[in-house]
Amino acid sequence: MPENKTLHDAFIEELRDAYDAEKQLTKALPKLAKKAASEELKSAFESHLKETENQVARLEEVFESIGTKASGKHCDGMAGIIEENKSMMEEDFDEPTLDACLVAGAQRVEHYEIAAYGSLIAWAKAMGHDTAVELLNQTLEEEKAADEKLTSIAEDGLNAEAAELAHPDTAGEEDAQARKPVSSQKKQTGKARVASRS
Ligand SMILES: [Fe+2]
Repeated sequence: MPENKTLHDAFIEELRDAYDAEKQLTKALPKLAKKAASEELKSAFESHLKETENQVARLEEVFESIGTKASGKHCDGMAGIIEENKSMMEEDFDEPTLDACLVAGAQRVEHYEIAAYGSLIAWAKAMGHDTAVELLNQTLEEEKAADEKLTSIAEDGLNAEAAELAHPDTAGEEDAQARKPVSSQKKQTGKARVASRS
């Protein structure tokens, strides 16, 4: 009977998966950067591309640290996310909405990678592969920072700009009313609220 595969085998499989995922991403990121209208978003994609190229090289060091030859195995998960992003980019969205969608798509990528690196690090720790832990942690931190950067780009205006195009009529008084603290809204009677809308 063949011997069962071990956690070390699973670790190598996941490393190969991550290696391929990062390589796929080096091809997808320039396309996202090209589509982005916001200069800030464009440069976020461009700088994450440089980081991603570096992450590919770093994974080669991880393979080396455990005495295994670097090789990839097609990552279906990353391919799926990239495919979804591709169809989203073909939609006829207005500019800020397309940017908001690019952020959403890129964050799916980042969260997928954060999950993958999280498990890899935990397994490497458990098996005492200290160099691998250190290297993979550097990448994990970069992925987290990239994700946070995307959140701040979206929340510092991009989403609001897109929302204004989606709801131009409600961007005025009614919205301001809805944003008022609950206590001040409560003070109004139903009648007064109707009057303030007209
Ligand atoms: Fe990455």
